[in-house]
Amino acid sequence: MYAESLIRAFDLAAETIVAASGAVAVLTGAGISVASGIPAFRGSQGLWDRYDPMEYADITNFRRDPEKVWMMLKEMLEVVERAQPNRAHKCLAEFAEKGLLQTIITQNIDGLHQVAGSRKVIEFHGSTRNLSCLKCDWRWPRFKLDETQNMPPLCNQCGAVLKPEVVFFGEQIPRHALLEASAAAEKAKVMLVIGTSANVHPAVEMPILTKKAGGRVIEINLEPTPISGPVADQTILGPADLILPEIMAACEKIIAK
Ligand code: APR
Repeated sequence: MYAESLIRAFDLAAETIVAASGAVAVLTGAGISVASGIPAFRGSQGLWDRYDPMEYADITNFRRDPEKVWMMLKEMLEVVERAQPNRAHKCLAEFAEKGLLQTIITQNIDGLHQVAGSRKVIEFHGSTRNLSCLKCDWRWPRFKLDETQNMPPLCNQCGAVLKPEVVFFGEQIPRHALLEASAAAEKAKVMLVIGTSANVHPAVEMPILTKKAGGRVIEINLEPTPISGPVADQTILGPADLILPEIMAACEKIIAK
């Protein structure tokens, strides 16, 4: 059973979401996939205890020593391939099915929103599904790791090392993702910001765009973030896989009235 203040917070969030009548966007970060067994980057455990993401997810370091970075990528891909969507991913897919949500902008590269059934997903930081060659641009779509795979994977055309199409530090956000996400953020009457530390640019600018265009921002996180005071109209502290089903239930009650 939740405290009275938390129940009021669920109701307030639900009223805001229902009133936006579908003009709702979501920005997700690593926190939403923690309940699926994928550790978040900052303040982290598991994989990121051994590999500093700031060092390993840097394009200069990848170019300098791709074998070293592929050791981390292989482990990360194994974790991602085992992971299944949790209640939070599924809830967002249900929100969209009920017409309450239009667009998901995700910083995650795990593809779990799509596995949960969400269709309109903008992968702001790319995905692990495809590999591409930094030298000749040859692409290897729907890459799946197996034991027979030589590491690091090499380009069939020119023999250079392949890289997953995820955005490393020092790389640009894919142009179409940036344009689509910015348009969705500006159009949204409400943006839910879920499980992100909100300190990586330009992703953190998405809720700011919503706010500047007159929309409201609702944040769900275990702890306050840099946007909690200045940008978010409401911050609900708690795990996304528990909070989102409560907000969903509160929305359903309002709709049934
Ligand atoms: N529910 C809600 N929030 C959670 C949960 C949970 N179960 N578990 C963790 N969090 C919160 C943490 O409090 C933290 O604020 O999720 C956030 C995770 O933050 P980061 O690890 O920094 O992940 P993210 O914000 O997605 O990182 C942004 O930085 O490393 C780069 O490109 C990478 O996409 C990534 C980007």
